[in-house]
Amino acid sequence: MSTAIAQPNIALIKYWGKVDEELILPATDSISLTLDGFPTTTTVELSDDELDTIVLNGRQLTEAETMRMRRVLDRARELSGDRRAASITSTNTIATAAGLASSAAGFAALATAVNNAYALGLDATGISRLARLGSGSASRSVFGGMVRWHRGHDDLTSYAESIDWNGPELALVIVQLSAAQKAISSRVGMTRTIETSPFYEGWVTSNQRLVEQAMAAVAEGELAELGQLTELSTMRMHASMLGAVPPIRYLTGESFTVLDAVAELRNEGLTAYATADAGPNIKVLTTVAELDDVHAWLSERFPQAATLTSRIGAGAHLTEAAVA
Ligand code: DP6
Repeated sequence: MSTAIAQPNIALIKYWGKVDEELILPATDSISLTLDGFPTTTTVELSDDELDTIVLNGRQLTEAETMRMRRVLDRARELSGDRRAASITSTNTIATAAGLASSAAGFAALATAVNNAYALGLDATGISRLARLGSGSASRSVFGGMVRWHRGHDDLTSYAESIDWNGPELALVIVQLSAAQKAISSRVGMTRTIETSPFYEGWVTSNQRLVEQAMAAVAEGELAELGQLTELSTMRMHASMLGAVPPIRYLTGESFTVLDAVAELRNEGLTAYATADAGPNIKVLTTVAELDDVHAWLSERFPQAATLTSRIGAGAHLTEAAVA
């Protein structure tokens, strides 16, 4: 029995769009922070059953729902030559309710447990590539701290790695405006953007440039620069979707009210930069030193929203029980 734990990550420089949907090769690199909360715990046990079974948060998934997980399992069987099926149980803590990308933590934990269960002997880079087959952003949750996912050009060259942030210790405040499941999945949203948005090409070219600029800011520890690039990548990603047919609009009026408030916070001298993913919730980048102040300010301003805080956490790992 192999059990692994992984935590979600929030992209600063975003991933939106694939050049290969089978292998999940992204159109651009991306840069993220792994959180130190909201873990997913996944246990994999090999069985003599004919089919893989997957129980997520206490509910057995249907055949259609397990397709993405089976891609990870099929790759493990191919690599190991062990044809056995897997019996999987996975539990998210409050990640789903918090509107956080639970699939990133889920597939990072799955790939880590699968590596052990099928005795694949993969290093973290290999696990990152395996997790990528389930969900692109999961490749990043294999690592802790600040992480860059190299888009690469094939299965071998597309993986994430830790990068050294040389600035103040970072933290995030999540302003959760809605815990509802998104109407359009990232996967469907990306495809529609690629197929119908005239802004997609501009997004890809400019975002890859933002990655390079962000890498320079990371090396210098320049938080103001990194924060501005984070907001640019976020706005350009959402702009590319707004150009799709029909338009994809994850941000609501309330989201924009929070974005204005973040700018106001900054005017008051606090460190605060905003980002948002495939939903209305706003994630605010700040420092550990200012976390309490930024959190208090935002929760007072938005009493109707849940405001969650997170520091930066570790990458996916086996639990001690699994290692023993
Ligand atoms: C908006 O990794 O969930 O959160 O690869 O299709 O599973 P798939 O998509 P996913 O997309 C995440 C997109 C994003 C931005 C980001 O995390 O970089």
